[in-house]
Amino acid sequence: MTHKTLDDLDLAGRRVLVRVDINVPVRDDRVTDTTRIEAIRPTVLEILEKGGQPILLAHFGRPGGKVVPELTLGRLIDPLAGVLGVPVQFSPDCIGAMAQRAVERLAPGNVLLLENTRFHPGEESNDPAFAAALAELGQAYVNDAFSAAHRAHASTEGLAHLLPAAAGRLMQAELAALAEVLTDPQRPVIAVIGGAKVSSKLELLGNLIDRVDQIVIGGGMANTFLAARGIDVGKSLCEHGLAGTARAIMARAEAVGCELVLPRDVVVAREFRAGAASAVVAADACPPDAMILDTGPASVEDIKARFAAARTLVWNGPLGAFEIEPFNAGTDAAALAAAELTQAGRLCSVAGGGDTVAALNASGAAARFSYVSTAGGAFLEWLEGKTLPGVAALEAAA
Ligand code: 3PG
Ligand code: MG
Repeated sequence: MTHKTLDDLDLAGRRVLVRVDINVPVRDDRVTDTTRIEAIRPTVLEILEKGGQPILLAHFGRPGGKVVPELTLGRLIDPLAGVLGVPVQFSPDCIGAMAQRAVERLAPGNVLLLENTRFHPGEESNDPAFAAALAELGQAYVNDAFSAAHRAHASTEGLAHLLPAAAGRLMQAELAALAEVLTDPQRPVIAVIGGAKVSSKLELLGNLIDRVDQIVIGGGMANTFLAARGIDVGKSLCEHGLAGTARAIMARAEAVGCELVLPRDVVVAREFRAGAASAVVAADACPPDAMILDTGPASVEDIKARFAAARTLVWNGPLGAFEIEPFNAGTDAAALAAAELTQAGRLCSVAGGGDTVAALNASGAAARFSYVSTAGGAFLEWLEGKTLPGVAALEAAA
């Protein structure tokens, strides 16, 4: 299965509808992280260089099919122009006469940004009439929004069937990185799966067990596995009701020869706050009135040795409560070790998922990984082995 790329489309003199994901974090009217905007730059600039007119389609937040003024993409005009380095024009509606006029007025060398596609109910319902209204604005369609490709929406899926369609450069890079770790990886492959809850990672673990050689389990999830082994985890975050499920996962992993790696020591504290007094104890020695907030130093050494022996690493989810110091220590140390091995050419490392990227950025490790995905939910669904509708539509179109 493959898809077309910018190399296969006639771009010169064409109006190109480009689905991007600029669903960026905003606080007090300021974009606090421009990663997703930077990531679409190569595609937008290449279309301009080849004489095409980029018309950006995007969602922002979850307005639920109606106009929610706080979720206007108008606020991203300046951040976009700043990062892209070209003038950005804006249309206050993404379809209809207003959008048509904006397209006609689009100056050569400029980019047109259309208002939030999710202001129309037809976006999320993938309504053929809404998709057709979008299609009227362009002559080709480029999907560069891997991080929204798990949504079968009009601008992520429907449009691919209506216009000559191709993947943008970011979409290509995301798919290539994921193929490198799961489809056709160099072995041994090790996965780090962390985060608070096992319940949100069941499908992911189920899929990875068949594909990777080892899975390091961290974060609150690890507590559920420890408890399932009969270990008292005190007041730790733990899904006690999932003990049976955790045991079934461990049994299946053993049956297929995938090693599940649980912490051997842990950092415990009696309060969940930054700087809380903490201690390192064996994983089976959490005091009844304490909670596990990070993986311990012996576990981190073990993880580092496993990284050193692996060729490929896929990472989703932090190993501890990384958002409060000092419980970021385990995640940081392991991530920095992976970054070093990557820079030494010994490891291919790919990470993704919202919290994961925040955790790896905080330690400075992310910049030295082989690839860090811009995707949250789409990255997870891909690791779960699911077909992403946005990707499938590009393949069908090819
Ligand atoms: C994201 O931020 O993960 C993507 O933009 C998708 O957003 P959604 O979860 O609202 O579909
Ligand atoms: Mg999301």
